[in-house]
Amino acid sequence: MLFKKKASWPPYRMVEENIAQRAEDRLDKLERLYHIGQNNIWDGKKVLADLIAKHGKPKLDPTRKEAALKILSILLWGELAAWAISADLAERIDDVEAKLAATSQAHDEARHFYVLRDYLRALGEPVPHLGGIARRLLLKILETDSLVHKLVGMQLLVESNALSLFRGLVEAKLEPVLEELLPYYETDEARHVGLGVMYLPRLLKTLNRRESLEVAAFQLRCVGFLMTGGLTLREDFRALGMEPRNLAKHTIKLQSDIVAEMMATGGTRRRRDAVRGLLDPGKGFGPNIVDFIHPPGGVANAPAWHRAILAVWTRGAMIADRALA
Ligand SMILES: [Fe+2]
Ligand SMILES: [Fe+2]
Repeated sequence: MLFKKKASWPPYRMVEENIAQRAEDRLDKLERLYHIGQNNIWDGKKVLADLIAKHGKPKLDPTRKEAALKILSILLWGELAAWAISADLAERIDDVEAKLAATSQAHDEARHFYVLRDYLRALGEPVPHLGGIARRLLLKILETDSLVHKLVGMQLLVESNALSLFRGLVEAKLEPVLEELLPYYETDEARHVGLGVMYLPRLLKTLNRRESLEVAAFQLRCVGFLMTGGLTLREDFRALGMEPRNLAKHTIKLQSDIVAEMMATGGTRRRRDAVRGLLDPGKGFGPNIVDFIHPPGGVANAPAWHRAILAVWTRGAMIADRALA
């Protein structure tokens, strides 16, 4: 929390560390994230204007409009939250390379937010308010004081869900401006995941047993919010031609890849052991939850008890989504 303690500012040791160590650190991929980000900055105003010039004013198919706007609203406010969270990470992270990566991410998220806002303005449709479950999840990550919780919530969970939604919307072919705009987002978001992959293991290995359990509990609570929020959107996804089971499986695969990459870049055994403390959504509980929420043979073919629990859960989720909004 270097920048919280103003008395110890400026942090002289950032530039005074041993030169050999610094040379070695320059090879660190984390630092490259910032420079790759800088080279790949796209001009949001120009990209959107060019796409509108190419395809004309965007217009949504009336049968899919309501569902599409609901998902776009989640992405819009998710981008605003990601902007605030990455700016917070940039201020608080006590490591120059990771600080650079978070700063680059904050710049990207700012662009993601204003371009999506401008796109929605070009559509000319009122944007529905965010559902209560998504709102609570984002607030949870915004408000936590723990850097580890923030990184797990943002880089591991929210970014991977956003990536799945972007891909799903591109494949849904809602309208050409959005279809060509979202791949710009996807490239940036994939890079953002890198900050979690490379930096989170360093933090995890400093945690004691109790703190590690708290991280797993935070992760589980976030997954609970994501799954329950997903239930409220099941029919919207269907209306857009996005199969909810495929969407959930894709998200879990992304999260599992992130955890696997953390292990691969883990280096020391201690660091790999620390990553093992994270829940791997690709193993055990993840596929089981997906199979339960989205039965492989479809809800209609699931046993009666299964359908009954899902119906109660979905009803509860709908009520909570309105009550927490
Ligand atoms: Fe973003
Ligand atoms: Fe992002």
